[in-house]
Amino acid sequence: MGITLPAFTPLEDSLWLTLCCRALDYRTPHPVLGDAMADQIVRTVDYDYKRLNIGTNLRLNATIRAKKMDEVASAYLTRHPDAIGLDLGAGLDTRRQRLAPPDTVDWYDVDFPVVATARSELIPERPHAHVIGADVTDKGWLDGVPSDRPAIIVADGLMGFLSQEELMGLWDQLLDHFPTGEMVFNSYTKFAVFAAKHSRGTQSVADLIKFPGVDDPRDFERWNPKFQFVKEILISREPEVAAFPTALRLYYRAQAHSTAWSRKGTIVLHYRF
Ligand SMILES: C[S@@+](CC[C@H](N)C(=O)[O-])C[C@H]1O[C@@H](n2cnc3c(N)ncnc32)[C@H](O)[C@@H]1O
Repeated sequence: MGITLPAFTPLEDSLWLTLCCRALDYRTPHPVLGDAMADQIVRTVDYDYKRLNIGTNLRLNATIRAKKMDEVASAYLTRHPDAIGLDLGAGLDTRRQRLAPPDTVDWYDVDFPVVATARSELIPERPHAHVIGADVTDKGWLDGVPSDRPAIIVADGLMGFLSQEELMGLWDQLLDHFPTGEMVFNSYTKFAVFAAKHSRGTQSVADLIKFPGVDDPRDFERWNPKFQFVKEILISREPEVAAFPTALRLYYRAQAHSTAWSRKGTIVLHYRF
């Protein structure tokens, strides 16, 4: 294999959970996402995914939420082929490869410097694909990113690790920088934060969660006046549920009848600014 990765902090290590969900999804007979590169990365570093205790439910939730964000980003890039794409807390996700945008799009994957180094070891460079090694709560990391183009901003699995103050600061920075754009990210209700702190499948990240949870997607509009709610995507109501194993399918079908109950699970939120 011949690749020695830098040592990660527990926070950086959280990238393995989502990456391994996508890799394991790829190995199923009917993958949700079909991310061959995720599988290739996990095999290349010979990562011991078994210690993460990833069950079917967690795998499905992680991959469907990634797929929903891909769909929002892809639709935006079709309408704005001159856009900037930003993946915040990108880890080793190969979203840009999945989206395959035209060369007129400049895509930026942002994560801590040590993760950025690992990305360059494991993910082949491409023209118009950029990696920024930075803490997104710091000021100034956006300085090298063009500020005169529309932006699609994705944050998959990041916000749980930021406090409300840090998130508000990050969004102020982003919305001041770009003239217009859309943002898509997964969010957590207060209950979901509690569950993530106590579930077996998310034990590896439980102590790192800082986000307090938000129960109503409209609450985010109050965080920044430019932020406009577009859509809430509740996994229980998505068509992929039809292919779930029976017990899970019945559970999500029942959950789909209640918004409050559905919000206890995976939520993808879509905004424009
Ligand atoms: C659960 S992982 C998700 C990674 C990736 N989005 C995915 O779906 O595979 C969370 C990622 O957020 C990154 N992260 C957390 N806090 C960050 C911060 N303040 N600045 C930059 N990256 C951060 C971590 O290093 C990690 O790679």
